[in-house]
Amino acid sequence: MSNAQSSSQSTRAPVGSQISIIRPDDWHLHVRDNEALKAVVPFTAKQCGRAIIMPNLTPPVTTTEQAGAYQQAILNAVGKNSDFKPLMTLYLTDSTPAKEIKNAVASGIISAVKLYPAGATTNSDAGVTDIKKCYQTLEMMQTLGLPLLVHGEVTSQDIDIFDREKIFIDQRLKTLVKDFPELKVVFEHITTADAADFVTESSPYVAATITAHHLLMNRNDMLVGGIKPHHYCLPVLKRETHRETLVKAAISGNSKFFMGTDSAPHSKHNKETACGCAGMFTAFAAIELYTEAFDKAGALDKLEQFSSLNGPLFYGLDANSDKITLQREKWTVPDSYPFGDDVIIPLRAGKTINWKLV
Ligand code: DOR
Ligand code: ZN
Repeated sequence: MSNAQSSSQSTRAPVGSQISIIRPDDWHLHVRDNEALKAVVPFTAKQCGRAIIMPNLTPPVTTTEQAGAYQQAILNAVGKNSDFKPLMTLYLTDSTPAKEIKNAVASGIISAVKLYPAGATTNSDAGVTDIKKCYQTLEMMQTLGLPLLVHGEVTSQDIDIFDREKIFIDQRLKTLVKDFPELKVVFEHITTADAADFVTESSPYVAATITAHHLLMNRNDMLVGGIKPHHYCLPVLKRETHRETLVKAAISGNSKFFMGTDSAPHSKHNKETACGCAGMFTAFAAIELYTEAFDKAGALDKLEQFSSLNGPLFYGLDANSDKITLQREKWTVPDSYPFGDDVIIPLRAGKTINWKLV
């Protein structure tokens, strides 16, 4: 158990206590496609009203037409009895035409555009090699109010992996927000105090998502006592001081910070191997994990704002109209869940989570 997991026990809600919050949304989610999609989508549909769906498929979702077909596949996997709404994104490339942004906004299907620096993470090879190549497209997004979602890491081989987020801020993001002062930017899955500070100090057009795993774990949880491939994600877990700053940002009440799980399922086979994929599967218990993090920080009263209000506010949408209830009750996470021909190992497999969705 890390320091993170043993702190502030005394301020926690008592066993059996319940909280009700407006239904949350997941502002950053990977659901893959085909059989994998069918296996994971129902978890999010059960918890969340909406989710921003990442476009890093093979091939990537670069057109509104592709996004429409992808949205339909997700809706088919959810079934007719659910009100869950997948909010679709386009994958930005060096050559995404400004015209595609016009189509995207006119269609009403697309909620945002995702920037992956080429080579930064899973299926990012078709990503952006030089942001200057996208300036006309970004101009159109700024004009039409379509948000840019940013994977904020530089990719140069000579930059240490633990420094890639900070260097991205200094070398790329500062220029981007200066050149497009009214472009809505979500700095996705922030992992450092540098990122939290940058977002806090930026204009209201800049916000950030924070994952549950970056609120609950630090890099010791990945590397001490043996390497834990299921705790490997990108951006990689950082040191404890960064985790503490992320918790402060999440519970601050600042509307710039909101829930985005970055639940990123990969098969057991692709995680437990010599060169394992990046990503943690948390969608099965997303809100429970966030609730645990807020409870540990003695800030359950700030959970609803982070999970259910700040995101819609930034995206210009109404909050969900119904509520969910969570109970402080320990339950054991299954060792695995089915995932197409393979299985997926959830975060905390075989271990317990302190909160349960009622
Ligand atoms: O850990 C991650 N997994 N980070 C990302 O940026 C991508 C994601 C994935 O798609 O597997
Ligand atoms: Zn992601």
